[in-house]
Amino acid sequence: MQVDVLLGLQWGDEGKGKLVDVMTPEYDVIARFQGGPNAGHTLEFNNIKHITHNIPSGVFREDSINIIGNGVVLDPIIFMQEIDEVKALNVELGSRLKISRKAHLIMPTHRVLDAASEAAKGKTKIGSTLKGIGPAYMDKTGRNGLRVGDIESPDFLDKYKFLTNKHLQILKQYDFEFDLADYEAGWMEGIEAIKSFELVNGEYLINQYLEEGKTVLGEGAQGSMLDIDFGSYPYVTSSNTICAGACIGLGLAPQKIGRVIGVFKAYCTRVGSGPFPTELEGEMGEALREYGAEYGATTGRPRRCGWLDIPALKYSIMLSGVTELNMTKSDVLTHFDTLRVCTAYKINGKQTRELPFDINQPVEPVYREMPVWKEDISKMRSKEELPVEMLDYLKFIESEVNIPVSVISVGPDREQFIPLK
Ligand code: GDP
Ligand code: IMO
Ligand code: MG
Repeated sequence: MQVDVLLGLQWGDEGKGKLVDVMTPEYDVIARFQGGPNAGHTLEFNNIKHITHNIPSGVFREDSINIIGNGVVLDPIIFMQEIDEVKALNVELGSRLKISRKAHLIMPTHRVLDAASEAAKGKTKIGSTLKGIGPAYMDKTGRNGLRVGDIESPDFLDKYKFLTNKHLQILKQYDFEFDLADYEAGWMEGIEAIKSFELVNGEYLINQYLEEGKTVLGEGAQGSMLDIDFGSYPYVTSSNTICAGACIGLGLAPQKIGRVIGVFKAYCTRVGSGPFPTELEGEMGEALREYGAEYGATTGRPRRCGWLDIPALKYSIMLSGVTELNMTKSDVLTHFDTLRVCTAYKINGKQTRELPFDINQPVEPVYREMPVWKEDISKMRSKEELPVEMLDYLKFIESEVNIPVSVISVGPDREQFIPLK
């Protein structure tokens, strides 16, 4: 068996959580492979709205096994809150949730370091979710990090104190006030919560599952344009969000990757700082934000909104070897008379379909305008019902990127989607 991977192709928040929940019945195992609680994946079913941060979005389907992979950075406090929220919905996790021993822990001082570093950057701040992601991955690559498996070691507390002291030394460089005591108490409780789950050698387990014929779906966080190597650096997150991240973050050989499902919104959003060529400022952007309810699932920040960006989409598809697309939120466009889609960029007067090295330089989008359907598509459930303008938009995107759209999502609820193939 191979692992299918579902990941975001834009700047995050494409609707990955909803689609993972929709697809979970087709899989035995759902595995998160990178990122941490900077992610906010929204699921809606039976009038319940739920947001997952650290844990996979498969948890609500009773038979699914869910794995937090080694590529994830795990915050014990947020993890514990998430577990409580899931339990409050009468969902039994028990042995259905497993955590890789090689996943790294986000420490209280990582969060402080994130906040202090962002505050010191002033106008050039990344717009981080301030969950400690950057500092935790820095300790991982700097070979200092604390891992989930360390919890089982008798000198765990010593390791924790040693690294905390190191962070406190670094924090002296910043003019930044903080109080660790509260954080630390909650963090230690969170460590106990983690201990109550099965800690696994995830790389062995997942490969064993494949040998046994189990079906596995990798759940990506963030989006390809936030990838540490290929995103709009330095306005990115600190992990590899593209498909290769699933190999690293789960312990999979490249040939173990099967379908690669790329999720994109029918328009674009971005939360945090950084370049966004098709961003709409003013009334149009605000209208997209209001109709699309574009506010961050993790931080509540208003998301910046703009038109679909085909060069960026093609770039993401290339980097991950996307085999099929899922388009979300086209229902939001119903409110407009016409839509625009960026087919190329003009940089220094020259037209190109490639993302430049320095995407922070002025980039002028070249647009194609298309009519928007008038019908409310949110209640439609089959391709046959879809308005011709919607089908034209789909056909246009498919012809530009040469990949089929296999599912469109027409609302936030689990039931609101249309399989196309
Ligand atoms: P994720 O991080 O990729 O899982 O996406 P988020 O949950 O951060 O943001 C997506 C938002 O759009 C959430 O509020 C979802 O409930 C909502 N959503 C997902 N798919 C659709 C859709 O097709 N139409 C509409 N209107 N909302 C959607
Ligand atoms: P999901 O999984 C949207 C953005 C932040 C910031 C940059 C770096 O829900 O799609 P970080 O906290 O990683 O240091 O922030 O990345 N960002 C996201 N934007 N969706 C996300 O996750 C994001 N995770 C991080 O806003 O610009
Ligand atoms: Mg999100």
